[in-house]
Amino acid sequence: MFSLKKLSPSITDMIRFDHSHVMVTFHQYTGDKRPSVKKALAETICDALEIHATLEEEIFYPAMRPLAGNQKVMEKSEPEHMEMRRLIHELRNTDPRDSRHDELVFELMRDVQHHVADEETVLLPEAEQTMTKDRLSELGTQMTKRRLELVTPKAGKIAKNTAVGFSSSTAAVVMGVAGALFAARAFTRKPS
Ligand SMILES: [Fe+2]
Ligand SMILES: [Fe+2]
Repeated sequence: MFSLKKLSPSITDMIRFDHSHVMVTFHQYTGDKRPSVKKALAETICDALEIHATLEEEIFYPAMRPLAGNQKVMEKSEPEHMEMRRLIHELRNTDPRDSRHDELVFELMRDVQHHVADEETVLLPEAEQTMTKDRLSELGTQMTKRRLELVTPKAGKIAKNTAVGFSSSTAAVVMGVAGALFAARAFTRKPS
């Protein structure tokens, strides 16, 4: 029988995929890019981080909180998201011709790398040790559904910024396509 739950990627794989995707975007940002490209890349990063943080706060962290062995890492996750949101707010309000724009992108990148490392070396392995595959997949389904709700109102803006930010990069086009396919896979694959 067709079961959406069985076909969905696990929530932990989805989180890892989001992390890789945003790091690829950070790596496109260099000081010599045109201001319009810098702004588009920054907006792509900000939107991706906001959506990812909301998904973790609404779905992954509540499921993980009672199971986490390392409560220290668990407890600092949301305050780190709040600090990230503060940087995002300042970045959005900074002119890309201002050197502060570069500083803010690189500060955000450092914070995100640190936060992602804690998640990938502590929380995600713990989730995979303490939850069943079915549970990880069911949470993956919840994450995909909620992602669609969060992305839909911003879809036009995200597509435009991705096109401007990545105009010279075929690698990024591949990543963008892979991301769209990954998100849609659970809903489009036909039962065999
Ligand atoms: Fe996080
Ligand atoms: Fe994360």
